[in-house]
Amino acid sequence: MAQGLFREGLRMSGILILGGAGRLGRELDKTLHQLGARNVVAASRAEADAADPASVLKLSNRFPGGRPNWVVCAAAWSDVPRAEVDKTGAFRGNVLAPRGAALAAAHWDAPLLHYSSDYVFSGGGRRLLHSDLRPKPQGAYGRTKLDGEREVLRITRKALGKALIVRAGWLYSEATGEGFPKKVLERALSGKPITMRTNQFGRPSSYESLAFWSASMMLGGAESSLEKGVPEVLHFAPPGETVSRYALAKRILSRAAEVSEKQGSGLDIFFTNALIGMKGFRAHQKSQPENCRLSCEQLAFFNASYCYSWQESVDKSVDNFLLPRFAIGETQD
Ligand SMILES: NC(=O)c1ccc[n+]([C@@H]2O[C@H](COP(=O)([O-])OP(=O)(O)OC[C@H]3O[C@@H](n4cnc5c(N)ncnc54)[C@H](OP(=O)(O)O)[C@@H]3O)[C@@H](O)[C@H]2O)c1
Repeated sequence: MAQGLFREGLRMSGILILGGAGRLGRELDKTLHQLGARNVVAASRAEADAADPASVLKLSNRFPGGRPNWVVCAAAWSDVPRAEVDKTGAFRGNVLAPRGAALAAAHWDAPLLHYSSDYVFSGGGRRLLHSDLRPKPQGAYGRTKLDGEREVLRITRKALGKALIVRAGWLYSEATGEGFPKKVLERALSGKPITMRTNQFGRPSSYESLAFWSASMMLGGAESSLEKGVPEVLHFAPPGETVSRYALAKRILSRAAEVSEKQGSGLDIFFTNALIGMKGFRAHQKSQPENCRLSCEQLAFFNASYCYSWQESVDKSVDNFLLPRFAIGETQD
């Protein structure tokens, strides 16, 4: 079925993923292959330093015709707290890397898909964040992500090329729980107390859903949509109401307690204790804004498939995190 849906894109494929060894890069590579894309090159930083366009252009010979049909910049500095102290590293990953990706894409006359973040906003207010709102980052990570977006748009416009910037937030792996679910569950299993912010709101998005949306967008022949005046900056978020970090952690722990109890694994006591002992707190952190309520209605511009509700997806991430632990328990019995 995928082959039929993506006939045009599959014929065309030839997709370069920069930052291909990162979490999103790997997931996108896997998804593209599953959907039948050909000539996908997921380049690690060692294979191509996105901040150095010459090293990216050396990959030309990996594509039929000497150029990819899409360039994806999944390269980034994603460590939010460390961006405050290593400003050079954050600048290189979040400004120079997308800049290099945009220069290479312009050279090849290929559209660029670049990822950015909800942290480009100031975090104030409670409204839904539409992509035409003025960003005003307060932390170093958000500032570098915004500067990276601006570089991408400046270079692409100058070259009369095409770019699509997709802002996402609160990413985690549905397959392993890596990200917020894993942090919460490991903390509970360690028996240490859990405290969570009650005043940061957003919607968690899985790497899988973002990768699937991105892949189906590119394989669905989105270049023609880009020519039809689609906004250059889009927000990605799954369906479902927004949630605080505190309420999200509670949901994760409740699910873990329920599933563990059903399995008779003995782990439920850790999750139940963590739930009982969990405390909420309010914090105003410039680098991690309060309001991360990304709108997502613009995703409809593309005929691309995407995800089900975040609740269902987060539950799956909890189950998948626990599964190997149950298996260990079974063999010990
Ligand atoms: N994680 C989240 O919760 C989150 C939330 C919102 C938005 N985002 C955005 O989503 C995108 C993907 O994030 P992620 O979670 O997949 O991050 P990730 O796992 O840290 O992956 C980023 C990858 O980029 C590579 N990289 C850094 N600088 C590079 C360069 N100059 N050239 C080539 N590769 C380079 C990194 O390599 P090294 O390991 O060698 O540094 C790493 O493999 C980023 O744009 C990020 O800002 C993430």
